[in-house]
Amino acid sequence: MIRRDLQVDTHGRLKHFLTIEGLGSELLLRILDTAESFAGVGDRAVKKVPLLRGKTIVNLFFEPSTRTLTTFELAAKRLSADVLNINVGASSTTKGETLLDTLRTLEAMQCDMFVVRHAQSGAASFIARHTAPHISVVNGGDGRHAHPTQALLDLFTIRRHKGVLQGLRIAIVGDIANSRVARSQIHALTAVGVAEIRVVAPKTLIPSGVDSLGVRVFYRLTEGLRDVDVIMMLRLQKERMQGAVLPSTHEYFHFYGLTEERLSLAKPDAIVMHPGPLNRGVEIESEVADGAQSVILEQVRYGIAVRMAVMALTLGSHASRERSEP
Ligand code: NCD
Repeated sequence: MIRRDLQVDTHGRLKHFLTIEGLGSELLLRILDTAESFAGVGDRAVKKVPLLRGKTIVNLFFEPSTRTLTTFELAAKRLSADVLNINVGASSTTKGETLLDTLRTLEAMQCDMFVVRHAQSGAASFIARHTAPHISVVNGGDGRHAHPTQALLDLFTIRRHKGVLQGLRIAIVGDIANSRVARSQIHALTAVGVAEIRVVAPKTLIPSGVDSLGVRVFYRLTEGLRDVDVIMMLRLQKERMQGAVLPSTHEYFHFYGLTEERLSLAKPDAIVMHPGPLNRGVEIESEVADGAQSVILEQVRYGIAVRMAVMALTLGSHASRERSEP
């Protein structure tokens, strides 16, 4: 567990954004409200605000990514920051020294923020602990551990559709065991006080000890979907699976694929979410992914506003610390 004081300073301001755990609803809702104020920037003729002019943001991606990388890049650009994308590629040398050398090199270029994606759990907090004090670190997904901006954009999307977060019944369906998205979603939904979080998956894809997170476990999709307000689908993360945990993707779809028929078990106004990338015909059928209840592309769009909010709040708090220092 990451100590709260690594992320939040004594005035309650964000220094780094590494995990949802321990942040509390007040701060999470403040980020969502800030994101609301940025949501319209993309609709303007000039899609920019000058908030982070003169700041340098580095997207430091050790793992491939499309949506997360591009929306972080657009978020930085819409805040008028200078942004650099560094794809370090699938590096297995994650033991510290190489990473520290990369860090020192980028610090020498006088950057203000690192957005980090890494296959190793804990990589973003490692960087936050070892980087220069004026640099903010944002976690863009680390191993199976956390993907906090994804969880926030999910909350943002749900709030936009449902108005409130309290009282909702939510099902997270699929590869819970290997998903950093699921872990962050569970922490975020718990913090804001939804009525019920269900996780739905075959036994082999449910991590041990998941009940201690306060979720209800369902092994049958037809039971797990009944009367829910929100369905959050997850991709089968084959690259993280160890050994044979599933007979075949065909069989997985047969038991756990979201079809129109199964969707009708949820509330009539239920929304369908997916962080992407989608595997059509594996966890979700095209009719549902492209259907009227799907909000998958809105998640992508809102991801920009939410990432703008996280960048503005973390770098803004650093700027005000600089000002208050003698
Ligand atoms: C997720 C990720 O990379 O953790 N995708 C994303 O960020 N949009 C989920 C996934 O890869 O399945």
